[in-house]
Amino acid sequence: MTESYSVREFHPDDIRHVVHINKETLPENYPDQFFIGLHYHAPKAFLVAEVDNVIVGYIMCRIERGISSFGRLPVKKGHIVSVAVLNSHRHMGIGTALIKGGMDAMIEYGSSEFFLEVRKGNEEAVSVYETLGYSVRRVLRGYYRDGEDAYLMVGKSNSTPEEVSDAE
Ligand SMILES: CC(C)(COP(=O)(O)OP(=O)(O)OC[C@H]1O[C@@H](n2cnc3c(N)ncnc32)[C@H](O)[C@@H]1OP(=O)(O)O)[C@@H](O)C(=O)NCCC(=O)NCCS
Repeated sequence: MTESYSVREFHPDDIRHVVHINKETLPENYPDQFFIGLHYHAPKAFLVAEVDNVIVGYIMCRIERGISSFGRLPVKKGHIVSVAVLNSHRHMGIGTALIKGGMDAMIEYGSSEFFLEVRKGNEEAVSVYETLGYSVRRVLRGYYRDGEDAYLMVGKSNSTPEEVSDAE
């Protein structure tokens, strides 16, 4: 596919498009307030991808404090809460671009490591994360409402985090 896309920060006016994509692509759906809350928390890490000015994908993230997955120190961890691309626009690199953009923004918020949960059977997503350097840290048994297990995947940034701005 040769269509080109662009990635920009989410704006609250985009909410119905993002909610639509979430419902089309994932069984985990949320009330509008959840999306708006995440945007309020870390606006630079909530991104949308557009093709011809139409939103076709999004990523939303949260900055959480916890013990490092790679050591014992308390750190700010970047949590990829949800990422999705419409079926019609997959395999163009959009998912990868959204994840990279989300990670860059989380680095700006002071995170140097990241984590996410993904369905064990979601081979496509697992493969995309692996390509970006993530690895499976453990299995979360029965994590999803329908009983499916999740992989907890973790990844690291190569750059040192700088406290440029604080997520709420
Ligand atoms: C996971 C998801 C976001 C990936 O989105 P995507 O835009 O298709 O991702 P990419 O295009 O960056 O990468 C997908 C594959 O296409 C390949 N690809 C990237 N650019 C390509 C191009 N120009 N031509 C052909 N293939 C390409 C990538 O190498 C990748 O291959 P891999 O899976 O073997 O590693 C998408 O499948 C999705 O929305 N799934 C449903 C929601 C979901 O599962 N979200 C994750 C929950 S944690």
